[in-house]
Amino acid sequence: MSINRKVQTLDEFTMQQLRDFPSATGELSRLLRDIGLAAKRVNVEVNKAGLVDILGDAGETNVQGEEVKKLDVYANNQFMGVLRHGISCAGIGSEEIDDVVIFDDEISNASKYVCLFDPLDGSANIDVNVSIGTIFSIYRRVSLVGTPATNEDFLQPGIKQIAAGYVIYGSSTMLVYATRRGVNGFTLDPSIGEFTLSHPDIKCPETGRIYSVNHGNFFQYTEGVRKYINECQRKEKSNGGPYTQRYIGSMVADVHRNLIKGGIFMYPAIADKPKGKLRLMYECNPCAFIIEVAGGKATNGSQRMLEVQPTSLHQRTPFFAGSKKMMEELESFTM
Ligand code: AHG
Ligand code: MN
Ligand code: MN
Repeated sequence: MSINRKVQTLDEFTMQQLRDFPSATGELSRLLRDIGLAAKRVNVEVNKAGLVDILGDAGETNVQGEEVKKLDVYANNQFMGVLRHGISCAGIGSEEIDDVVIFDDEISNASKYVCLFDPLDGSANIDVNVSIGTIFSIYRRVSLVGTPATNEDFLQPGIKQIAAGYVIYGSSTMLVYATRRGVNGFTLDPSIGEFTLSHPDIKCPETGRIYSVNHGNFFQYTEGVRKYINECQRKEKSNGGPYTQRYIGSMVADVHRNLIKGGIFMYPAIADKPKGKLRLMYECNPCAFIIEVAGGKATNGSQRMLEVQPTSLHQRTPFFAGSKKMMEELESFTM
């Protein structure tokens, strides 16, 4: 088999990016490689979820009282294990673990990054063969390199993210990540087992026609949000309409589609979840970062998402993100 040299792997891409920064140590590049490795392992299990016993509930609940599926646990262990044994991460925070995990060994203490992740997003969709994903967020430590990481290293506002990304286990498996320099997407080529650059320099269209929200909660939304949704339903052709409603229930997949096609994703506060459902640190902030770098906007309904000062690892927040013009239209109803 001849190798197509036009194909650039994730590793090649991150190494090439380093060339522009003579002072860079390559640590971020190694961290992304580690994340890619864990993603490939999770991908193998996700692909055979219908076949093996790993499918189904683990019979446990996570720290937020939600039912945990077995693949959540598997994915969590893969990401944590790879990062713990790698040399570029001083500690992690995960949806599936109550507190942050500080690796605290000589090699980990010498690394300058910490990582937060939702190991499996959309896990209610596992049993029905619908796209699911992993979301990750990378911060530079504020504590001294050479010492164990601290809580403060994790509780930084999203604006401080060095990189953020997600993996989608879908009709194909993709890894999308953003640094301040841009958003790039890599599709897993199963024939060589590598993520290869397929979506260079992703830009979120300035406007779009897709709105993504759980309509079942409609009557629990604030008046402003309800009015905006009504506006989406009424859009005339002459005014950019008609809009179309799409909601997968795996945020990763909903955000990815809207990032590529243009659209808006909303998970507002509802009566029994006044702070919303989604988690700031490892769901909303990484997606907000990616969307913003791609040219879109993201808020909690009243404030730029990335400027919110976090107070706890698992805190929830309402979340609105997507194409710039659609976000501005939403704001004209809600702010
Ligand atoms: P997780 O599987 O990590 O718990 O996340 C599920 C989240 C998110 O992916 C999705 O957008 C949202 O839950 C769907 O919630 P609703 O079913 O309430 O709409
Ligand atoms: Mn999630
Ligand atoms: Mn999850």
